[in-house]
Amino acid sequence: MTRDLMNSGGGVSRRSFLESLGGMGGSALLMAGMSALGFGIASANASPPALGEGGKGKKVIVLGAGVAGMASAYELSKAGYEVMVIEARDFAGGRCQTARKGFKLTELGGEAQECDFDDGLYINHGPWRIPYHHHSTLHYTKLFNVPLEVFVNDNDASYVAFAKGKGPLAGKAIRKGQIAADARGSAAEILAKQVKQGALDQQMTADDREKFLAYLTHEGYLNADLAYKGTDGRGFDIDPGAGLDPGPGKMSAPYALTDVMQSNAWRVLTSVAGYEQQRTMFQPVGGMDQIAKGFERQIGKLIRYSTVVKKYRQNDKGVEVTVAGPGGKTETLKADYCICTIPLSVLRQMDMGVSAKFKEAIGAVSYALVGKIGLQMKTRFWEEKHSIYGGHVYTDNPEINTITLPSTGFQSQKGVLQGYYNFGASAAKVSALSPKARQDFAAQGGKVAFPEYADNVETSFSAAWHRIEHNLGGWAEWNEESRRDAYPILCEPDGRLYLAGEHLSYLTGWQAGGIESAWQQIAKLHKRAQAA
Ligand code: ALA
Repeated sequence: MTRDLMNSGGGVSRRSFLESLGGMGGSALLMAGMSALGFGIASANASPPALGEGGKGKKVIVLGAGVAGMASAYELSKAGYEVMVIEARDFAGGRCQTARKGFKLTELGGEAQECDFDDGLYINHGPWRIPYHHHSTLHYTKLFNVPLEVFVNDNDASYVAFAKGKGPLAGKAIRKGQIAADARGSAAEILAKQVKQGALDQQMTADDREKFLAYLTHEGYLNADLAYKGTDGRGFDIDPGAGLDPGPGKMSAPYALTDVMQSNAWRVLTSVAGYEQQRTMFQPVGGMDQIAKGFERQIGKLIRYSTVVKKYRQNDKGVEVTVAGPGGKTETLKADYCICTIPLSVLRQMDMGVSAKFKEAIGAVSYALVGKIGLQMKTRFWEEKHSIYGGHVYTDNPEINTITLPSTGFQSQKGVLQGYYNFGASAAKVSALSPKARQDFAAQGGKVAFPEYADNVETSFSAAWHRIEHNLGGWAEWNEESRRDAYPILCEPDGRLYLAGEHLSYLTGWQAGGIESAWQQIAKLHKRAQAA
């Protein structure tokens, strides 16, 4: 549409050129903006459903004590339901886990790991960041007094370390803010010079042209000749200081546009601009599992730990769940309804007495292969030697992908950083290594950004979610077809069975998806139970 308008010369009036550009996506953008700001269309999922007190005398079995299961149990028990939560692990949280000293994990077919980080250090190997607009997650952190701190998801001082590009910047660690300033400045210079020479005179009024030039000058830090010569925002070779020495300092010189383009480093710039990744993001102080513990403080007494579901049956009158407890003893539990938060990757292998249609839908989604490693570093060299406090270091090695510096413990002696965050085939490849080999691989991988990296590694803890029992994947990955055909089936109950979890949301891979799907399902269950 833009191109047609640009090429249409006198066909479109100069006034309507800018108006048409402004109109593109206009109302949709306006609505999204209004909604995001809490105006206009309010989020349907900003707070739990008001169930009242009508649950007395009715029993619900919840399968899984992750955030979806525990949100269900918390809200339903508040409404008077008799709730029992069945949890396969000996702790609550599901994927909401934090590895610190003593945390144990044995992946399927893998060696046993026991985290041996120093006291106070940890890695959130599952969920690790909370967007400011995930009202549902933030509802519970506030309600349960889980203190938050900022998760640094964007850091101009952090490095882009791309080895595969071309030109003089390839293989170097470059500050992200410098790439951003130079790409922006050079693009603005080129466009401004074209506009100044009249390239858009056919399309723009004189007044719009002047305003547009003013905007480009401002946006690209251009001088009076419309040239980009750098900006203090990209930092200094010698920082300004007191007295005559160093005085005003020495501003850094910009990289040439061709070098920036050839490096491919500009590819990372929009990664934290999307709605899911924007500032401000949060993390619970002391580890993501503080959210799980917040729920547990409320409803821990309803949870039966180390209890595995063996069989599910239902009829017109109720549900029956056969479970094996800690000693392996089986038992059949009865209730009026069941909320099942078990990931579909696991559920599809279970003995579920549900309709054929439902069973087929359960099998229709794939799960993300994803791996993370926490590396304990003996010094915080990224802060001390590179002045980087939190944020991501971007590499173009998909087996490392990003290295994330801790958003906590600034200026303390040691720190645990996230040494890789890999997906798909790369995650499969790295996860095939032993824990020690993963550590060695990650230690080498970080050298692309920091010369001190490998020598600082003390110990590690890694997790490959596709190899973890009870999860078998990081999160659900719907495609167009499964979202269309299977997803709507699974959002509705099958008999007396209601599914909940991040997989039944458009927030897959986020705790908010799990919580909000739980809220939707318990509202449906409650309405039905009231009518029964
Ligand atoms: N929501 C997940 C993340 O923050 C996928 O990385």
